[in-house]
Amino acid sequence: MKFFIDTANLAQIKEAHDLGVLDGVTTNPSLMHKEGIKGHENIIKHYKTICEMVPQGDISAEVVATEFDAIIKEGQELAAIHPNIVVKVPMIKDGVKAIKWFTDHQIRTNCTLVFSAGQAILAAKAGAAYVSPFIGRIDDSGWDGSELIGQIAHIFNIQGYQTQILAASIRSALHITKCAELGAHVVTAPLEPILGLLKHPLTDIGLAKFLADAKAE
Ligand code: E4P
Repeated sequence: MKFFIDTANLAQIKEAHDLGVLDGVTTNPSLMHKEGIKGHENIIKHYKTICEMVPQGDISAEVVATEFDAIIKEGQELAAIHPNIVVKVPMIKDGVKAIKWFTDHQIRTNCTLVFSAGQAILAAKAGAAYVSPFIGRIDDSGWDGSELIGQIAHIFNIQGYQTQILAASIRSALHITKCAELGAHVVTAPLEPILGLLKHPLTDIGLAKFLADAKAE
């Protein structure tokens, strides 16, 4: 399973990259806003910087257009920034049409805001490179988001869809482990859940004892 970081924060991208386990980055308009990245030119510049910082991986850049022609125009502009850019398109009717258009024109897409297996099937049929089920937001609404990952993985497997499952809206280290267990190809998480994977109290206790014994007379 690949690890993407879900942020537009350059310091956090660097920290995950320096850990040596980073395979890519996802962003969205809310994450860009959180970092104070505003205005077309600044947004394009910020994507360029991220692409240079993480040359080994795919970088999802989201369109804000919701009408077919405008999605195509915006997506083409984003795709032109760097070969690693994947155009993130929302799961709406014009979005699905645009994903098919981008697929036919060799532009890779990430279908975002996916909350059901039916939506994932539609994105795969349109040729999306990635489909992003938002498991944390499903959990927040009182359903089990992880179950959706397992369901999509099963469907994609038996149908032979090439679209990769990019588990998104990750809230915890446990979410990451669950996604790996259920067959997600990629997980995109904020830095905290990624670093959360490091933690176990027995590791801390064991290390303290080893260090103490190493110093003992
Ligand atoms: C996916 O690519 C989105 O950027 C993200 O995972 C949304 O997560 P949130 O529910 O924490 O906003």
